[in-house]
Amino acid sequence: MITTPLPTKRFDVAIVGLGYVGVPLALGFAKAGCRTLGYDTDSKRVRQLQQGRSPFAHISSLDLVDILADGTLEPTSIPARLAESDAIIVCVPTPLLQHQDPDLSHVHGVAKEIAPHLRRGMLVSLESSTYPGTTREEFRLILEQGSGLKAGRDFHLAFSPEREDPGNSKSKLRNMPKVIGGFTDECRDRATELYGKVIDQIVPVSSCDTAEAVKLTENIFRYINIALVNELKTIYSSLGIDIWEVLHAAKTKPFGFMPFYPGVGVGGHCIPIDPYYLTWKAKEQNIDCRFIELAGQINHSMPKYVVNGLLDAMNHSGQTLNGKTVLVIGVAYKPGVSDDRESQSYTIMNLLKAKGAKVDYYDTHVPLIPPNRGHWSGKKSIEWNDENLERYAAAVVCTAHDDVDYARLADQIPLVVDACNVVPKDQKAQVILA
Ligand SMILES: NC(=O)c1ccc[n+]([C@@H]2O[C@H](COP(=O)([O-])OP(=O)(O)OC[C@H]3O[C@@H](n4cnc5c(N)ncnc54)[C@H](O)[C@@H]3O)[C@@H](O)[C@H]2O)c1
Repeated sequence: MITTPLPTKRFDVAIVGLGYVGVPLALGFAKAGCRTLGYDTDSKRVRQLQQGRSPFAHISSLDLVDILADGTLEPTSIPARLAESDAIIVCVPTPLLQHQDPDLSHVHGVAKEIAPHLRRGMLVSLESSTYPGTTREEFRLILEQGSGLKAGRDFHLAFSPEREDPGNSKSKLRNMPKVIGGFTDECRDRATELYGKVIDQIVPVSSCDTAEAVKLTENIFRYINIALVNELKTIYSSLGIDIWEVLHAAKTKPFGFMPFYPGVGVGGHCIPIDPYYLTWKAKEQNIDCRFIELAGQINHSMPKYVVNGLLDAMNHSGQTLNGKTVLVIGVAYKPGVSDDRESQSYTIMNLLKAKGAKVDYYDTHVPLIPPNRGHWSGKKSIEWNDENLERYAAAVVCTAHDDVDYARLADQIPLVVDACNVVPKDQKAQVILA
């Protein structure tokens, strides 16, 4: 049992990694009256938060300003201040390296930063999505080696997966059940006590490994089902059947069916990435993840399928794509957010460019393409006006943002490829579902 009493400290919790997950979590704790420290190595991000400017379109700056004025939230880039908190929650990125191997450099780096400031009685909870064993093995070892303390004896260690759904106004921190696994039962109970202050339903599981597997299972389920509807879309389309009409009718079945929707592929920091954390871990055990690999092949083939839809339509009317101007609608990976990580819109833009098209985009959520792994950083969204829209031979709708006037788009541009089923079919344009 961890008996050493905690000295009274300034903060109940420190959130490490102030990104899409960390900022709403920090606000949630602070709103619940917990004294909250927010820590990030990115000093620009920290300054922005200190000035009350939300980095994300779906998080209100007004909320942030109120909480900062209350003094319940303090953003910092000084790691030593972590020692001032009773608990540390880690939400740093877990991307993929080239060839789809896990990149745990942020998780390892953060453990090294925390270790010198770890105190007896502290709780450290990892929330970053990762393969089973990360918390118990590598994260724990770095914390122990850097601090001289032992998990389960001197400090508490837990894994609790994040279920943040950016842009979904119905999804609130308090009403999202929270899965928690501890290094020991006592670690899990301490984490339950902390999260219980801001979340109504805690779902305890037997270990950190199980909690890590829960997160991967949720996202793999989504990845595979999206691949399934994407494949069905290609089959039904060749049979002259509209997949959207099929799904609309199928989802009236009150049991045994859950709708997933086709699109241009899979984007964001979670769904296209997390499945490969498991395939990598499974390879260590000499197990092939055939289902996940197959889903990956299908999802990765979708941008080409969409562009082929445009090429076919142009061919039918005796046109070529080479030399034409094409407008891509939406570069965020999903509607209503500014997150363009792993967005398949960029793959589509690359394919169009490779076919000789001149490509522009429209997205009010991403007015300027930030630095990314593709070739489009620094490009600006076009202004939405008749004069601009008339310049395009075709448009491709990749993201179903609800602030786009799709009727006007199809009134101004002669050919629209719609991967999201949002463009009305009774306009002037030839509209193709792809
Ligand atoms: N974005 C989502 O919707 C979502 C949903 C569920 C789970 N997750 C998982 O949550 C984790 C975080 O994702 P995110 O989208 O918030 O990432 P993000 O890139 O938006 O934010 C991560 C933040 O961590 C900071 N950071 C990186 N290394 C650091 C270090 N050593 N010390 C302190 N700060 C550091 C970065 O500067 C950045 O501000 C990932 O594992 C992701 O898979 C994300």
